[in-house]
Amino acid sequence: MKILIIGTGYVGTTTGLIFCEMGHKVTGLDLDEQKIQALRAGNLYFYEPGLEELLTKHIQTNQLTFTIDTEKAIKDNDLIFICVGTPQAPDGSADLTFVKNVAKSIGQHLNEYKVIVTKSTVPVGTAKLVTSVIQENQTSPIPFDVVSNPEFLREGSALEDALHPDRIVIGTTSETARTIMRELYKDFHCPIVETHPKASEMIKYAANSFLALKISYINELARVCDNLVINVKDVSNGIGLDHRINPHFLNAGMGYGGSCFPKDVKALIQTAKEQGNPLSILEAVVKVNAEQPIYFIEKIKQSLGSDLKNKTIAVLGLSFKANTDDTRESPSLILIDKLLEEQATIKTHDPIVKMGVPHQFLTIEETVAGADALVICTDWDDYKNLNWQGLKTLMKQPYIFDGRNMLDKEKVEKLGFYYFGMANH
Ligand code: UDX
Repeated sequence: MKILIIGTGYVGTTTGLIFCEMGHKVTGLDLDEQKIQALRAGNLYFYEPGLEELLTKHIQTNQLTFTIDTEKAIKDNDLIFICVGTPQAPDGSADLTFVKNVAKSIGQHLNEYKVIVTKSTVPVGTAKLVTSVIQENQTSPIPFDVVSNPEFLREGSALEDALHPDRIVIGTTSETARTIMRELYKDFHCPIVETHPKASEMIKYAANSFLALKISYINELARVCDNLVINVKDVSNGIGLDHRINPHFLNAGMGYGGSCFPKDVKALIQTAKEQGNPLSILEAVVKVNAEQPIYFIEKIKQSLGSDLKNKTIAVLGLSFKANTDDTRESPSLILIDKLLEEQATIKTHDPIVKMGVPHQFLTIEETVAGADALVICTDWDDYKNLNWQGLKTLMKQPYIFDGRNMLDKEKVEKLGFYYFGMANH
């Protein structure tokens, strides 16, 4: 098939590469000329393990091309994937400006029957909206179908997730489009959920919100465990072995971040509110998540004293999780902002993210030198097996605050550190 991917961000680029792997011819379209130039040269402008190799491979064989020519790209392809961003609007809802602009262009340039697929995370009713915008912008009534086909890949393991999804969701009312989508995904060995576009759109929000709910649940429970001196990891393990619960997304820490959970939970809350059925459970999820870094700062203050003004805190990790350079809604940056409000001196480190602020250092040694405490904010493997003995000699005070519960408490305590995790007793 000849596939057009509109929006060469995270989801668009990965999706395009997966379809190349499946033997399809893919064109990536973006309005951002700089992004297109970088991708054409085989440079992935974001960090995602394994993706650049595939990019180089498919550019070389001409299986994958990039363009900024919207009209030609729409006319030349059979299947069009909308993968543009849906940022958060001020009221928490998803801003559909980019999606609507794309739909308008498709309407203007549609030259024969095509299937238009929304892969961006879009609120319930967007497939219908895209249909109307395309129709409004057509000069002659050429038939087309709109399909909702949400993406569930995670940053940091995008390739693996996109190649081996747990399920594929296809939301359409058109038999023709359904047949084309089945053909497109025929080599994927996972269940395919075929449903109405509205249900498909809801599935994406419901999945992300449920995962966020699990995280907020374990985080709030961790605070209770903390007071009762219970290891929350044992609790996660003990409940996770119940297959009805499962062990995933039960790691207590500094709260969820990233480009999806914070935005998607809020968008679903907004959708529910508009319908007059508030999702109070998700409102609690957001509240717990916002409290988590504050709880952590309280723990720091309990050890270092309530006045952090003359304290130096080394923050290890800036990205919202390991294996990505994405810092959107990163708990680390939220914590740093709050510590700066307390007038603490902050030194930071990240193996991949290069922000320069505040006071970012290249090595962990430089970062922790003279620090009263070090805080692990991102679960990078690099932070698991450090030379703790050596680092301790560089620090002013030997305090470790492990926002990811990733260190061996006993081991670092034996070396003379004071260790605090999130109910990691
Ligand atoms: C998420 C969804 O998992 C994915 O299906 C969807 O397509 C996009 O949104 P992503 O944002 O890449 O993916 O990251 P994910 O691995 O889900 O983690 C989200 C946040 O939750 C991170 O900040 C992570 O550190 C945190 N998290 C995750 C926890 O705090 N505890 C956990 O147990 C799991």
